[in-house]
Amino acid sequence: TLPRVYVTRQIPPEGLKILRESGQVQFELWDSDDVPVPRKELLQKVKGVDALLCVLTEKIDKEVLDAAGPNLKVVSTMSVGFDHLSLEELKKRLLLLILHLCVFVHEGIRVGYTPDVLTDAVAELTVALLLTTSRRLIEATHEAKTGGWGTWRTLWLCGYELADSTVGILGLGRIGVAIAERLAPFKVKKFIYTDVAPRPELARAINAEYVSMDELAKQSDFLAVCCALTPETKEVCNKNLFSKMKKTSIFINTSRGGVVNQDDLYEALSSGQIAAAGLDVTVPEPLPTSHPLFTLKNCVILPHIASASYSTRGAMSALAANNLLLGLRREPMIKEIKL
Ligand code: GLV
Ligand code: GLV
Repeated sequence: TLPRVYVTRQIPPEGLKILRESGQVQFELWDSDDVPVPRKELLQKVKGVDALLCVLTEKIDKEVLDAAGPNLKVVSTMSVGFDHLSLEELKKRLLLLILHLCVFVHEGIRVGYTPDVLTDAVAELTVALLLTTSRRLIEATHEAKTGGWGTWRTLWLCGYELADSTVGILGLGRIGVAIAERLAPFKVKKFIYTDVAPRPELARAINAEYVSMDELAKQSDFLAVCCALTPETKEVCNKNLFSKMKKTSIFINTSRGGVVNQDDLYEALSSGQIAAAGLDVTVPEPLPTSHPLFTLKNCVILPHIASASYSTRGAMSALAANNLLLGLRREPMIKEIKL
């Protein structure tokens, strides 16, 4: 019988078609895009599966891996971020495979993800969110619609421009570079970045200078967070960072909400410590509508849509399916996380 796959969401058709037409697997899926699979259902459905195709709303932790059992060979996530996967737990699970010569070999669970295919979409959205925030577009449309547009006014709805600005990137990877490439034509004066170590290769492409976290906070007129969420980056954007930023600075986050201490951000925004923030990601998601950040005019919140273009979501779905099939065939995945 064919290897069994559980797909935790009704993903775009591209990936399902690849799974179906491969003839290589039988799969079952949580047949909704509107609600995530309930945890109980997930724990039931993963029993005995050979592979799991998941999205970022599913925590793939010890409990899920225990429920899946020793058949599980592949976890393929339709996302670039993988903080929802417990890599430590995945690493621990060595799979006993009997080769035809009755030799026992150990191989860990293979893990796929979907970088690169979403870089353009995320960079575009980040630029859109940045301009929306810096030029106060949400406030402006609201004013126009609700009678606030009394007359053309000289300082009304003024914001900040990219021309002649310093843009700071926290975590320079593919996405940070793509953002900088798109912002450069807006006549940005200088790009700076920080990371755990300099990334000279990437930095050269955008002529960005490596600085300390302190300098990043002090110099940036726009600070874009583009790093992965790890134990090291958890809440690095906190009181300490915001207090060093300029009162005229704009903070943008399209990575993961967990990188930010939201209480500290609220404080910085409401006290005028920084000018504004644009967030595509929060903790939790969805952010409750009663959250204080929603009361702030200088905070633009999007519901985690950075990669949400039809073409990119289709490509992510296809890549996640292809990674999964390659992993089951014990071939190198197109995009694999080495445990
Ligand atoms: C989206 O946040 C992703 O990780 O793909
Ligand atoms: C604005 O519309 C101007 O004419 O300055």
